[in-house]
Amino acid sequence: MIHARPLLGEPRRADRPFLAINMIATVDGRAAVNGSAVGIGSPTDHHLMMELRAEADVVLHGAGTVRADPLSARVPRDLLQRRVTAGLPAQPTGAIVTRSGNLPVPHPYYDTATLVYVCSDNRVTVQLPTVEVVRIQSVEDVVADLAHRGVRRVLCEGGPTLNSALFAAQLVDDVYLTLAPKLAAGPSPLTLINGPAFQPMLRLQLRSCVEQEGELFLRYRVDYGL
Ligand SMILES: NC(=O)c1ccc[n+]([C@@H]2O[C@H](COP(=O)([O-])OP(=O)(O)OC[C@H]3O[C@@H](n4cnc5c(N)ncnc54)[C@H](OP(=O)(O)O)[C@@H]3O)[C@@H](O)[C@H]2O)c1
Repeated sequence: MIHARPLLGEPRRADRPFLAINMIATVDGRAAVNGSAVGIGSPTDHHLMMELRAEADVVLHGAGTVRADPLSARVPRDLLQRRVTAGLPAQPTGAIVTRSGNLPVPHPYYDTATLVYVCSDNRVTVQLPTVEVVRIQSVEDVVADLAHRGVRRVLCEGGPTLNSALFAAQLVDDVYLTLAPKLAAGPSPLTLINGPAFQPMLRLQLRSCVEQEGELFLRYRVDYGL
């Protein structure tokens, strides 16, 4: 088993959910190869991602990730019963943050309940009964809206631009990072956080480190020094 259970903690503040970010990088720090994270991780990493989703009320993505990678917010069939036994809906709610409103349609993401958080007045390209569009100003509003809906655990799966805003707003509790034993190289590297520099740097406390077949599975707690 990779990391102790539960993977997602209890909310650390009354006014917002617990929020963990889960990402993967190559040893040279690349978060994407040829514009996609697909192919960086192993099946073990994929399984951990699904186990994290299995504990989440909401799985959060930036629109760039939804456009880049063939993903949804769902768990596979074998994890449905575990969620129901834990008192959760069979599937997590998917949530996408966008400013442009430009989301891919059609897309299997919207097969289950999806919140689209739009940080502008732009028209949203997806209009479906499963999709609720919520107008917001910032990622703080996203998390506040989720708290208002009774959400207790959020798993954010990136991407790097959304991560940047969440860290800057001090909304991230834990970071799950898989370090794949691979080198990608190439110009203009995309790393795990894409935005203004943190000054001072944010400190992380290592809480768990597991190696399997050369892949490192790391869990950190973010220390905002509060
Ligand atoms: N290695 C990994 O674990 C991992 C995980 C996820 C993604 N990725 C990779 O990351 C790349 C995509 O990078 P990215 O930085 O573009 O991803 P992203 O953060 O998912 O998407 C950026 C877009 O999301 C929206 N967004 C993000 N933060 C926002 C905010 N604070 N307010 C309003 N909208 C916001 C905007 O959408 P609009 O453009 O629609 O306005 C923005 O352009 C892909 O290559 C993907 O494969 C890697």
